[in-house]
This record gives sequence, C-alpha cells and structure tokens, in this order.
Amino acid sequence: MRKKVTVVGGGFVGSTTAQRIADAGLADVVLTDILEGAPTGKALDMLEAMPILRSDSHVTGISTKDGDYSATAGSDLVVITAGFPRKPGMSRDDLLKANYAVVKEVTEKVARLSPEAIIILVTNPLDVMTQTAYRVSGFSKNRVLGMAGVLDSARMRAFIAMEVGVSVENIHAFVLGGHGDDMVPLPRYSTVAGIPLPDLLPKERIDAIVERTRKGGGEIVNLMKTGSAYYAPSAAVYEMVDSILRDRKKILPCAAFLEGEYGLHDIYMGVPVVLGSNGVEKIIEIKLTDAERAALEKSAASVREMTKVLAI
Ligand code: LAC
Repeated sequence: MRKKVTVVGGGFVGSTTAQRIADAGLADVVLTDILEGAPTGKALDMLEAMPILRSDSHVTGISTKDGDYSATAGSDLVVITAGFPRKPGMSRDDLLKANYAVVKEVTEKVARLSPEAIIILVTNPLDVMTQTAYRVSGFSKNRVLGMAGVLDSARMRAFIAMEVGVSVENIHAFVLGGHGDDMVPLPRYSTVAGIPLPDLLPKERIDAIVERTRKGGGEIVNLMKTGSAYYAPSAAVYEMVDSILRDRKKILPCAAFLEGEYGLHDIYMGVPVVLGSNGVEKIIEIKLTDAERAALEKSAASVREMTKVLAI
C-alpha cells in the first residue's frame, strides 16, 4: 500500500510540497486548508497531471473550515505548513503568537487521527512551532521535527556554487541553529568537492555568503512583497519526506529536540540528524570551535526567549 502524507495548509509552500510528493509518486497526499474549494481544486488539478507524469499517487484536497480533519486519518506523515506568512519588515518572530494558536489546534487534530505519524513542521517561527507540536502531540521526540536546515544549507550551497562557478552537486554546506537571523552557517564544514570553504575562498567572500544565507528568507520576502519563499522550502520538505518514507537514513540538518546534545537542553534546534523510517533516528554531534559554540548558544537564546513567552 502506498504511504499517506497529509499536508496541512494549502498555500504556496503546502501545495508545492504536495505537488513534489505526488509528482514523484512517493505517497498519496491529502492537502488541507481552512479555505473552501481551493484545496479541493488544487488537489484535483494535481491529480489530473498524474497520467502525464506517470505517477499513481492519489491527491485529495479538503477544507477544514468546520474543524473536520477525518480525511487525514491514518497518515504516515503529516507536514504542517499552516500559519500566517511573513510580510516585508516582519521578522519570523513577529509571527509567534498568531501561529502558535494555529499550530496548537492543527496538531491536536492530526495527532488524534494519525497517532503513528511523523510530524514535520514548516510554520514559522520554525523551531518554536516544532516545540509546540512536540508538546501538544505528546509524540516521542523522534517523531516531531522541523524543516529549516535543509533549506538554509541549500541556499548556502547555491550561493557557494555561484561564487566558485562549479556544479551545485559538488557543494556541501552546513548550517546549524535556529531558523532565524542568528542561524549558524559553518564554513569549516562546508566543502566544494571535499575541499573546506576556507581553503578556497577569501574570508570576505565567505562572510558575504554566510550573511546572505542568514538573510536568505528575508531577501525573497522583500522581493516578492506579498509572500515568502516556497520553491526551495518545498524541495527541502520533499527531501526529508523522501528520506523518512523510503528509510534512506540521509544525514540532514533538521530542527530536533535536544536533551544535552551540543550542551543544550529541552529545546528544538537545527542539528544534523539521521532521517529514516523512525523519524529522527540519531543526532550527530560535530566538534565546534569556541566561536561556533557561542554562535549556537546565541541562536538557542533567541529561540528560548520565544518558548518562554509561550511557556512551552
Ligand atoms: C524562509 C522563510 C519563509 O526562510 O522562513 O524562506
């Protein structure tokens, strides 16, 4: 039987995520939104593309306006994208309280109907919303994780590839920490065909790449004016879903619950993890310099300020 994935939130991130999963034939997809008609129409449109794309994935779209999530029951994986998007001039953290209410309600509903599911959070502020879903669902920590590191490191890889002028396939990049302006790109662990970045580029070029990576989400918000990024975010979610459903055990940077790893306790933060059929199967600890550790602690402090406000 094909796996079942629910994508909560039929905006651009949610619908492109649903599309990537269906196009690849990775799973059947249920797309939900509080709007009426739109999720059903988008899902039907995707379904009608399947014969051309030679995928047997079944795509359905439902409105959850009346609070009925029953069509999502028995999902293997739930991706939560629902929430208010960032507008220009608005930090991810401004979204805190509005999106907390959304994520809390959605998590309560989906966790009850899909008690065995793995939940991937995409809603911002990412690390805090992931912690919200973890607390509300009561699921074990390996089954609740957040998407950000794959996106942030993909951005960094794209910038490095442009700078060096080689294939993106040769580039590996590492970004730790929260998905905020304090995220911690790690040039020492970022490589071009195995060569560490500091051996290839002068410091000022690396600093510029790090800065652009940190502000990558905001750069797109400022250009688009009426919304935020969705092509790269949905590609990042797809890579995580693929690694989980096909038990590929890829090492990917994801928001995971830390209980002492990296010296941090009771907090969701972006760290490298092994992603397989049990979700976060392992957290990989890498050695950090004093400066890198300090940057990670600063990022954790920003996340903690928000978890304190919400008392989660
Ligand atoms: C981004 C925002 C949406 O990074 O968090 O694109």
